[in-house]
Amino acid sequence: MDNSTRIRTATSEDFERIVELERLCFPKEHAYSRRQLRYLLTKANSTVFVEITGALVRGFLIILYRRGTTVAGIETINVDPVSRKKGVGLRLLTAAEELLRKKGICTIRLEVAITNQAAIKLYEYAGFQKIMLLKKYYHYDHEGSRDAYRMVKKLE
Ligand SMILES: CC(C)(COP(=O)(O)OP(=O)(O)OC[C@H]1O[C@@H](n2cnc3c(N)ncnc32)[C@H](O)[C@@H]1OP(=O)(O)O)[C@@H](O)C(=O)NCCC(=O)NCCS
Repeated sequence: MDNSTRIRTATSEDFERIVELERLCFPKEHAYSRRQLRYLLTKANSTVFVEITGALVRGFLIILYRRGTTVAGIETINVDPVSRKKGVGLRLLTAAEELLRKKGICTIRLEVAITNQAAIKLYEYAGFQKIMLLKKYYHYDHEGSRDAYRMVKKLE
C-alpha cells in the first residue's frame, strides 16, 4: 500500500469519479445512474467513504442507515478494476465497521448477486454470513441469475 493511501468521507468533488467507478464496475443496466448516485451521496441517510492514493479515488463504499433501528446496510462497494485484489475493498469495509460500531449499530446487512464470487468472498473474509437466498431479487440478470444472498455481520 502506497504511503499516500487513506480513507476519508466522500465530498462533492468526488462525485464525477464515483460515477466513473460505478460505470467501470457494472454494466449499464445494473449500474446506479448519476441521479441515483447523487441521491445516495447527498440526500440519503448515508455515509460514503472513498479510498484515495494521492488524489486518485480507487474505490468507494456506501453505507445506508435505517432510521430508528440498529441495522445499517452496505449499499455497494466498488473498486477500480486496476486496483483490485490489493485490499482496497477490505479496508473500506473495515472503516465502515469501525464507524458503525461507534454509532452503536449492531448488525450490518447487504445483498449480493449469487454469481458475484469476488464480492461474496470479500464479505465472507470480512466475517459476513449468508442468511437468506432471495429469489429474483434483481430486475436484471447478473451473469445469468437474478437471485441474491442476504448476508449479515453482527457487531460485538
Ligand atoms: C468485490 C470487490 C469490491 C472486491 O474488492 P477488492 O479491493 O478487489 O478486494 P480485496 O483486495 O480487499 O480482497 C479482500 C479479500 O476478498 C476476497 N476476494 C476479493 N476479490 C476476490 C476475487 N476476485 N476472487 C476471490 N476472492 C476474492 C479474498 O479473500 C481477498 O483476500 P486475499 O486477497 O488475501 O485473498 C471488487 O471486486 C469490485 O469492485 N467488484 C465490482 C463491484 C461489485 O461487485 N461490488 C460488490 C457489490 S455487492
